[in-house]
Amino acid sequence: MLHVPGVLSPDEVRELRAVIDAAAWEDGNATSGKQSALAKANRQLPEVSDTARQAGAKVREAVTRSPLFMAAALPHTVYPPLFNRYGPGQTFGDHVDNAMRFQRDQGIRVRTDLSATLFLAAPDDYDGGELVVEDTYGAHEVKLPAGDLILYPASSLHRVMPVTRGERVASFFWIQSLVRDDAKRTLLFDLDVAIQTLAQDAGLGAPAIVSLTGTYQNLLRMWAEL
Ligand code: NI
Repeated sequence: MLHVPGVLSPDEVRELRAVIDAAAWEDGNATSGKQSALAKANRQLPEVSDTARQAGAKVREAVTRSPLFMAAALPHTVYPPLFNRYGPGQTFGDHVDNAMRFQRDQGIRVRTDLSATLFLAAPDDYDGGELVVEDTYGAHEVKLPAGDLILYPASSLHRVMPVTRGERVASFFWIQSLVRDDAKRTLLFDLDVAIQTLAQDAGLGAPAIVSLTGTYQNLLRMWAEL
């Protein structure tokens, strides 16, 4: 799991919220399968609406500008971001996201390697609504400032806790990564971060840094699938 701070600035969050808040929202189960409808109670922007498409494009641009997001996700395809909101009593119980997502409209097809949630409401504006992600180390609760994003393996069991006050607004989407295996992708990210840190002292052109960068690129070449 990785926290990517400041994907959107406070001004960008305000602008985006003004656009999406004014749009027509629908029951989050309009497009759900039967199993997911059992666990899910929220509202969503209709996936094919102009608002969702334009706001989603803004979010997609913003994440692809983030070096931290790019290094961690190594995106092959970013699914067009969607938007949801949870008011008092609304929740999304334990589930694992579908392995494949199809956006027939834009002809986009992704294998969901990673899930992302971009928070669009300040934590003080609502109670509850934590994203809880389970991994082999237990359950992790996430509630981030507006504009911050959490990236987590789409294979993990997760839930959104019931909101008890205010409204939780977020964008959510999936990423097909060039490197589908979480363990390999994590190794590449750790190596990348270590190289960047070492290069701050030694300089990018230091022979050992050049060698490590070559190793990074050759591992990526070995593991990347287009
Ligand atoms: Ni989910």
